[in-house]
Amino acid sequence: MCGIMGCVGKCDVREVILNGLAKQEYRGYDSAGVALREEDGFRNIKLVGRVAELRRLVEESAAKESTASEKNGGRTLSGIGHTRWATHGGVTVTNAHPHESSDGQIALVHNGIIENAREIRARLETEGIVFVTETDTESPCQQLAWLYKEHGDALRAMTELCNSITGMYTLVILFRDRPGEIWCARRLAPLVAAHADGVSYCASDPTALLEYTHDLFFLEDGEMAQLTADGCRFFGFDGKERKKAPIRLQWDSAMAEKGRYEHFMRKEIDEQPNVTRLTIDAHTVVTSVGMEKDLKLPEGFMRGIRRVRFIACGTSYYAALAACNLMESFDNTLDVRAEIASEYRFRNTAEGNDTLAVFVSQSGETADTLAAARLSQSKGTRCIAITNVRGSTLDREIEHTLRTLAGPEIGVAATKTFTAQLCLLDLLVLQLLKYRGTLSAGDEARLIGGLRVVPAQQQALLEREAEIEALAEKYADSKGFFFIGRRESVPLTLEGALKLKEIAYLPSEAYAAGEMKHGPIAMLDEKLTVVALVPHDDLREKMLSSVQECRARKAPIILLAAEGDEEAREFCNDIFFIPKTERELFPLVGVVPLQLFAYHTAKTLGHGIDMPRNLAKSVTVE
Ligand code: G6P
Repeated sequence: MCGIMGCVGKCDVREVILNGLAKQEYRGYDSAGVALREEDGFRNIKLVGRVAELRRLVEESAAKESTASEKNGGRTLSGIGHTRWATHGGVTVTNAHPHESSDGQIALVHNGIIENAREIRARLETEGIVFVTETDTESPCQQLAWLYKEHGDALRAMTELCNSITGMYTLVILFRDRPGEIWCARRLAPLVAAHADGVSYCASDPTALLEYTHDLFFLEDGEMAQLTADGCRFFGFDGKERKKAPIRLQWDSAMAEKGRYEHFMRKEIDEQPNVTRLTIDAHTVVTSVGMEKDLKLPEGFMRGIRRVRFIACGTSYYAALAACNLMESFDNTLDVRAEIASEYRFRNTAEGNDTLAVFVSQSGETADTLAAARLSQSKGTRCIAITNVRGSTLDREIEHTLRTLAGPEIGVAATKTFTAQLCLLDLLVLQLLKYRGTLSAGDEARLIGGLRVVPAQQQALLEREAEIEALAEKYADSKGFFFIGRRESVPLTLEGALKLKEIAYLPSEAYAAGEMKHGPIAMLDEKLTVVALVPHDDLREKMLSSVQECRARKAPIILLAAEGDEEAREFCNDIFFIPKTERELFPLVGVVPLQLFAYHTAKTLGHGIDMPRNLAKSVTVE
C-alpha cells in the first residue's frame, strides 16, 4: 500500500530514490513521483504510470540541465519518492505524491490514511490555505508548513503534527530550507531507516535498502527520525530523543532480483523446494532416535489452552485453514478455528489466557492482522506470530515469533511464502499436539518423514511445468473456473482460485466439493472449467462422485489426481498426476501445479503477472 523512499547524503540521491521505488513498486503502482532537493529548490516530478516511466521523465528533466554534475545527480542533496496505491482521491497526477505545501516549504509523501484529514483541511481553508488535491495527504503537508512557519523549528513542528493527526501513516518529508535533512514519522504503517558511508536512507520495505546496508533501524509506532549525511536521530512523538539499535537483516540483495526469470512470481515458485528444505532444517534437529522439532517455545505454552485460533488475511489465511485441519485431525478436544483477521477483530469472540492465537502474515505489516493481534494481546491471549519479515511490526510486537525463511517475496501473488507458512505451521501444530500428548510417536515420525520428502516432490512437479503450461493454454478461454476439493484440499481450492483471480483476472471460485450441488452446479456448462483435487485418500470416491456430477452438466474437468491413479482418467478431460504424500501434507505439494496453472493462464492472456491491477503486496490500510 504505497512504497516510500528517502535518501540524503553523499551519493547519487536521484538514482537511489528511483532504484528504491522500483524495488517497492509491488506495494502500489497507480502513480509515482519524486521530490528532489537541489541547490536551488525542489524538483517535483510525478506521473500516472510506473516507476520506469518516472525514471524516463526524471532523466529527461536532468538532461535539460547544463552541467555534467547536474546530469548525474551530483547536485541533488536529498530526495523523497513514492509509488502509490490510491485510497483517497482518484489516480491523477495532482493526487500523486509527493505533495507540496502552498508556501513551497514542505514536500511530503505518505503511506496510510489520515482519518482527520477533512477537519484539518476545513480549518486551514478558513485560514486561507488553498488545497489543490483530493487526497488525505495534503492535510498533514499543509498543516506541517503552517506549524513550521509558526515555530521555525522542525522537531517541534513534526511533534505537533504527529500529535494532531489521527489514523495510520508513514510520512517522509523534505523542508525546503533544510536541504541536508529528511524527516520521517511512523504510526501503524511500516518504516525502516539506515545509515551507511555518509548516506542515510528510509523506505517502507527493507529490501529497498539491502544493497546499501543490512543494519536497519525499524521505527516503532509513535517514532520520528531526522536523517542527515551524518546519521539517523530518533525521537518519540513527545519530542524526546531515543536511542535505537539497528537490527541486522541477513537477506541477500540478490534475493530480490529477478535473475534469469521473466517474472518474480515464476522465480519464487521455483524457490519452493529450497524454502521448504530450509524451513524444515531450521526447525528440526537430528537426535539419536530420529528427528525432533525444535521451535523453541516454552514447554508450558499449551498448558490450560482450550481454544486455538489461526488468524490471517488472503493467502496466509488459507495456510491458517490448512493448519486448523491438521490440528483438528489429531485433537478434537480443542476448539480450533481459522479466522479472517479483518472479521475477527470486530467480533466479540471468546479469548484470554486459555486461548492460543497464531497470527500468520508474510509481510508482518497487514493492518487487519496487526489490529487483531493487538486486540488478542490486550485480552491476555497467548500469541504466536508467523512472519517472513524480521523486524516487521508483527515480528516486534509479538513475543513468540517464528520466521518463515522464504527470503524476500516480490511478486504480489504469494507463492513461496505460502508453502513456507504451510511447512512452519505443520511443524508448529505437531509440536503443540505433542505438548498436549495427542500425537503418537508413530504419527509424528510419519509426518516428519513425509515432510522431508516434500522438497523433492515439489521439485519433481516443477520439472513437469510444460504439462501445466499446455493445460493453461488449452483452458485460458474458459469463462471461469471452479476449484473443488474436500478436507485437506479445501484450502488449496481457495488458493488456486485466488491465484487465478489475482493475476489472470478470471472469475474463479472455490468450493468444498459437497457444496456444489447446493447452488454452484447451476452455473456449470461447457465453458466453465472445473479443477478437481483428488488426492489418494479416504475421500477419493466421494470426490470422484462430485466430479461426475459436474461432468454430467458438461463442464470440462481437469483432474489433479494422485500418481498411479490411472482409473481416474475416465472421469475427466485432462489429468495431471501429483506425487503421493502423507494425507495431511497434501497442500504443500498440491499447491505447486495450481500456482503454475495461474501463472501460465495469466501469461497466455498477456497479463503483467508481478504487479496485478488494483492490488498491493502489503495491505497496510484497513
Ligand atoms: C495482500 C497480498 C496477498 C497476501 C495478503 C496478506 O492481499 O496481495 O498475497 O496474502 O495481503 O498478506 P500478509 O503479508 O499478511 O501475509
